[in-house]
Amino acid sequence: MNLKDSFIDFFVKNGHKLIPSAPVVPENDPSVLFNTAGMQPLIPYLMGEEHPYGKRLVDYQKCIRTNDLDEVGDKTHHTFFEMLGNWSLGDYFKTESINYSFDFLTRVLNIPVERLAVTVFSGNEQIPRDDVSADVWRSLGIKDSRIAFLSDNFWIAGEYGPCGGDSEIFYFRSDDEVPCVFDPDDDRWVEIWNNVFMEFYKSPDGTITELPKKNVDTGMGYERILAVYEGVTDNYKTSVWRNIIKTIEDVSSKSYDGNEVSMRIVADHIRTAVFIAADNAMIKPSNTDQGYILRRLIRRAIRHAKKLGIDINSDWDQRIANAVIDEYKRYYVELEQNRQVVLDVLQMEKEKFNRTLEKGLREFYKRTRDGHDIDADCAFHLYDTYGFPIELTVELACELGLKVDVSGFKERFKEHQSLSRTASAGKFKGGLAGNSEIETKYHTATHLLNAALRVVVGSGVHQKGSNITPERMRFDFSCDHKLTDCEKRDVEDLVNKWIGDGLSVTKEEMSKEEAIKSGAECMFIEKYPDVVTVYKIGDVSRELCGGPHVSNTSVLGTFRIIKEEACSAGVRRIKAVLE
Ligand code: SER
Repeated sequence: MNLKDSFIDFFVKNGHKLIPSAPVVPENDPSVLFNTAGMQPLIPYLMGEEHPYGKRLVDYQKCIRTNDLDEVGDKTHHTFFEMLGNWSLGDYFKTESINYSFDFLTRVLNIPVERLAVTVFSGNEQIPRDDVSADVWRSLGIKDSRIAFLSDNFWIAGEYGPCGGDSEIFYFRSDDEVPCVFDPDDDRWVEIWNNVFMEFYKSPDGTITELPKKNVDTGMGYERILAVYEGVTDNYKTSVWRNIIKTIEDVSSKSYDGNEVSMRIVADHIRTAVFIAADNAMIKPSNTDQGYILRRLIRRAIRHAKKLGIDINSDWDQRIANAVIDEYKRYYVELEQNRQVVLDVLQMEKEKFNRTLEKGLREFYKRTRDGHDIDADCAFHLYDTYGFPIELTVELACELGLKVDVSGFKERFKEHQSLSRTASAGKFKGGLAGNSEIETKYHTATHLLNAALRVVVGSGVHQKGSNITPERMRFDFSCDHKLTDCEKRDVEDLVNKWIGDGLSVTKEEMSKEEAIKSGAECMFIEKYPDVVTVYKIGDVSRELCGGPHVSNTSVLGTFRIIKEEACSAGVRRIKAVLE
């Protein structure tokens, strides 16, 4: 039995029901592009709703994190991963949960207890130290010197939602002698499993209250525990990658050893592209949101396939995708069902990129005909118009003995990236949306709506997503209640007053820190570059934003809310028009 099956089997034998993985593209949560943790699809049940499968669940959830795309290529980073989890929805709590984890690791996987250490929540002003968990660990034979109390052992997805103290389990992954005293900062100790005791709810205004039930949410990254179990330090050498890497070796006629970085990038990116394209959301490569991530993954994989000497017009990508589908189809039926869809997506994007690649190469050789170095504008043009990664431009220039203004490019790229990152972090207004006159007006109106909601409903309101079309604007925001008719009227009136006041819209560049200090609103501060643009509308609104905006609110017309509805737990959605 493989590790994933053993995990499921263990928890099923202990009264848990296996639930299928939720789609990787969340169905009802516009604030994230992909599920990034096993708990995300279970939020309503952690909040108190009855789950149709009962109170004890076990699952493996497809997750995608693309924030550190650039890190992929090393031994441990992946853009796609599976999170194994067991769940108690108001059933067992700390003692049983810790016992289950301990039994699975030491009895099923036979990991020696001497190689384990744990962290436990040390408490804060509101919540006491978790002595219960520490006592349970002691009773199982974990020595005090292997238990660290930490204040940041508190888990929450994002800024608000179900949350609680957690206890993390570490494994000593090194040939060195296992130290008596556990040091969580020593990276020979790797975190393998997290037990979160979800008993609280943090509201958007920061208040912590008790959830109706005490829940357990555990998460164990499959890739990592598999590497521990199979005794390798390179995740790509685990059994789950074997056939995929073998296929890359075959199509490139090269060995993994010596070509690790490009092979890992191709393997990782094609695998994630397969999972995105096969998801029932039917995402296609594009320049926005999930489609933009899909496009970047495929193009980067193509680029590295080329580096490996693969003929990119051959069926190399189809063969790797088929290997991925065959590896995972037993667990994810949609892969087999959508096999052809996946292959078509890859084929079409490859053809598209190959076309721009050729044109880009022609452009590159035209620009360098007279032996000119590549300036920042040219490098950016090659990136922006032909999808050329800077490394490709540098590589080509090098062959001709020319230089590239890489730092100038990086500056241009940074500005551009604030838009892309924003798009990959959430559906932030405007983002990569169209820039027509009416869309620009909606964009400015979005800032006014955000500000008006904060005045009328309260400062706990924050933007959670938005979408603009030439016909209307849509705005998602944190709020724990349906807006009353009176609130809606007040919001409309306030926005229209600000429009009537003819407020000027100005922009200013500043450091991220200054922007935070100045109280500027934004959705995902950590996703922004160090230097950000803050748009100011009169004295009523300050927001981090990539623009574009009108220069004076007087041109916006009349603002009218056409719909206000629930969007997801704690998030409301407004649709509005400018008339
Ligand atoms: N929610 C926790 C995590 O993602 C445990 O599943 O780490």
